[in-house]
Amino acid sequence: MASALAVGIHDLSFATTEFVLPHTALAAHNGTDIGKYHLGIGQRSMSVPAADEDIVTLGAAAAAPLIARHGSDAVRTVVFATESSIDQAKAAGVYVHSLLGLPSATRVVELKQACYGATAALQFAIGLVHRDPAQRVLVIASDVSKYDLDSPGEATQGAAAVALLVGADPALVRIEEPSGVFTADVMDFWRPNYREAALVDGQESITAYLQAVEGTWKDYVEQGGRKLDEFAAFCYHQPFTKMAYKAHRHLLNSNGHDTDEARVARDLALTTAYNTVVGNSYTASVYLGLASLLDHADDLSGRAVAFLSYGSGSVAEFFAGTVVPGYRAHLRTQEHREAIDRRETLDYARYRALHRRSFPTDGGDHPTPAQTTGRYRLAALRGHKRIYETR
Ligand code: COA
Repeated sequence: MASALAVGIHDLSFATTEFVLPHTALAAHNGTDIGKYHLGIGQRSMSVPAADEDIVTLGAAAAAPLIARHGSDAVRTVVFATESSIDQAKAAGVYVHSLLGLPSATRVVELKQACYGATAALQFAIGLVHRDPAQRVLVIASDVSKYDLDSPGEATQGAAAVALLVGADPALVRIEEPSGVFTADVMDFWRPNYREAALVDGQESITAYLQAVEGTWKDYVEQGGRKLDEFAAFCYHQPFTKMAYKAHRHLLNSNGHDTDEARVARDLALTTAYNTVVGNSYTASVYLGLASLLDHADDLSGRAVAFLSYGSGSVAEFFAGTVVPGYRAHLRTQEHREAIDRRETLDYARYRALHRRSFPTDGGDHPTPAQTTGRYRLAALRGHKRIYETR
């Protein structure tokens, strides 16, 4: 039954890494024509974590501005979505809870289903707010996308965290109730527990993603969702930005529309500005698309925006949001630009050395080199415990 209570994204902030590798440096190393990266996959650079950055430091950096602006009194739940988990038992969000000084009267949990996890977190958060509209839920999507060196996936790495404050009468985007959902057991992308880098069958992942677009849309229509031409823009999960274009053309074509490149560009172009320079941020990617749209579009007040969240393996969801009038006063456009512009450019050799780093597993005391200039850092691994510090 539809509820009259408006629930959705009250605030949104993202953080990314200390370092960036331009695709020109990767292309110079492996002899690839730069057109393949810039045009073929739609990527210009990738965020690279410093030795003392991880999903926890990125997540804390993304969430801190939300707590600074709104306080933590109403936040009784933190849901941390990631597919680059650092521990098989403890939720990464518990470290963030500590770094942000949140009250002990909080529940914290970690969610996983590849790049889809943050959308599950958002939907679960909405359910909690419906149960008690006085509460807000902090959703953090944080990921480091890492593939083997010299593999096809390498050019689609990246890292970022997006924090969403979910609550009643949201200031940014009301999330609507009908959702189209889709699950299929496919092996397009996975990361066994013993591997640091993910395994991916790139062509299979494109095919599985397109099947999920069709499946979610079919279910969305059956659930009584909006018509295609009601949307001002479409935020897709972007493992590489060209994937959003493939997905959107497929959605239009499978609904009987000829490919109209002007329409595709109008529907998508403003959602890709951050992802094209950050790279794949897995769970955060679709919400980085939303941040890009809100930060770059002319006034979207009252307009409907579509979301297609895809997580390999695979689970996907198509849903809609309505942009709240007056939202522009609450955006963090300047901070988001700074997060991207502050990154230090790496040369290929430094990138490769960072990529190869991994912690010894002997339980000894292993301090990390002080590299990040951010507020939160992973200071050491000591007795198998991750030690974080705040500046
Ligand atoms: N100029 C312009 N475009 C070029 C080009 C050039 N010089 N050279 C190649 N291209 C285009 C290709 O035509 C292709 O475009 P198309 O897909 O529209 O046909 C595109 O660049 C990629 O080329 P391709 O040969 O398919 O690249 P690849 O074998 O290196 O694989 C990915 C690309 C994206 C599949 C690979 O990087 C990957 O697997 N990434 C991980 C994806 C992922 O994470 N999936 C899981 C989550 S959804």
